[in-house]
Amino acid sequence: MEDKLLEEERQGEAVITEQEINFLNGKKLYLESYGCQMNFSDSEIVASIMGKAGYETTKNADEADVVLINTCSIRDNAEQRVRNRLKQFQKIKKDNPEKVIGILGCMAERLKSELLEEEKLVDLVAGPDAYRELPGLVSEVESGQKAVNVLLSREETYAEITPVRLDSNGVSAFISIMRGCDNMCSFCVVPFTRGRERSRDPKSIVAEAGDLFDRGYREVTLLGQNVDSYRWNLSKKGEVINLDEETVNFAQLLEKVALVNPGLRIRFSTSHPKDMTDDVLYAMAKHENICEYIHLPVQSGNSEVLKRMNRGYSREWYFNRIDAIKRIMPDSGISTDVIAGFCGETEEQHQETLSLMQAVKYDFAYMFYYSERPKTLAERKYEDDVPLEVKKRRLNEIIDLQMQHSLESNKKAVGKTFKVLVEGHSKRSKEHLCGRNTQNVMCVFPAGNLKSGDYANVKITECTAATLKGEIVE
Ligand code: SAH
Ligand code: SF4
Ligand code: F3S
Repeated sequence: MEDKLLEEERQGEAVITEQEINFLNGKKLYLESYGCQMNFSDSEIVASIMGKAGYETTKNADEADVVLINTCSIRDNAEQRVRNRLKQFQKIKKDNPEKVIGILGCMAERLKSELLEEEKLVDLVAGPDAYRELPGLVSEVESGQKAVNVLLSREETYAEITPVRLDSNGVSAFISIMRGCDNMCSFCVVPFTRGRERSRDPKSIVAEAGDLFDRGYREVTLLGQNVDSYRWNLSKKGEVINLDEETVNFAQLLEKVALVNPGLRIRFSTSHPKDMTDDVLYAMAKHENICEYIHLPVQSGNSEVLKRMNRGYSREWYFNRIDAIKRIMPDSGISTDVIAGFCGETEEQHQETLSLMQAVKYDFAYMFYYSERPKTLAERKYEDDVPLEVKKRRLNEIIDLQMQHSLESNKKAVGKTFKVLVEGHSKRSKEHLCGRNTQNVMCVFPAGNLKSGDYANVKITECTAATLKGEIVE
């Protein structure tokens, strides 16, 4: 595009659109993202909004006019990492006072103007629903003002903004289908940083998936904090809002996206055990291109702890959902999130988390020890009374058990053949490709004549706890 534009300019014949004039302004934006997939997806919206205002993204912070850090507040150490990074940028700014440093995302929303006014670490603060205002906020900073917008919205979904894919392998992409969360799990800061739950127009989701397919992408991951509560044109009680408009729930949305093209793989995250319906599982079983993989965070294996966590389900209910997955999709991969050492967790209750893991045998898990977050229900109601060493020991027991299960699960795959979507070269060797099977396990195999975006049948010959290795078969 740049070359073409310069060429046209030289010939003096170009019809320059507004966007291209901005493009010629040539300012550079450096974006760094932390936290969940949703945050990475938001950064692509930010790149798009800033792109329209004339900013080109750069991977080099030194040459950037504007540096934006998209942050996460989920655990204390996530925030500490960002603080350290901001201090590094402060040093760079000393030699380059013109550089605008901004903080976006959940930490911006949680701390509001604190990092700007009290700690003087940033020039600009923008919460997750304020990204359309970013170009204006940057201009305010450039004219010597403070720029803060942390207003949360009940409607904003950035539905019609086409994300600029950052760090993309050109094969897989995220699509945000909703924003916010109404669940109020007692440990969680997300409802405070992301605001009320709202779903995005299904037409814009299907259009984005179609556009990605046309541009060569072969896998989309639909994102929401609780995808099972996705609803379009339906009130929370299930009543139709507008009689002239279609209603769409998550199972129906999945089918719509699956029908975009059989060559486009669909994944999604995150499912909530209290809301995941059999209809979602039947939709997955019905369409070959919806991947057989469910991320179903359990958090704890003890019903009393789950109650204090305000998760809305018991151990028994969770098992009922696992049984449904195994009944409707016997080959599905299943992963989870676990928190060790939540307020009041006894040794017996911790043992119940381990016994639940033994019973489910997850293929993969994200595991954390509890980190108290300001303003959450748990912070106000319960004492963070499990000592740090005990939290860490329990977490290690959970991790050790999960490592065994991941290895067992991968060993069962040896000898089987999987359809793998090639994502690119393996990290270790140019002669090898890597890609995932439908169960979301990374497979590595000799390249043959294949390239990114191709599908390959790979027969598994060996494994580790994290990776399958194999060879291409017909
Ligand atoms: N919406 C998703 C979770 C998003 S946060 C869901 O409901 O499953 C991702 C994970 O971070 C959570 O599943 C939980 O395991 C972990 N987490 C959230 N808050 C935490 C806290 N205060 N301390 C430790 N881990 C936490
Ligand atoms: Fe947090 Fe619970 Fe919402 Fe997940 S469902 S984002 S854990 S409040
Ligand atoms: Fe972190 Fe916010 Fe995501 S707190 S996990 S970036 S929603």
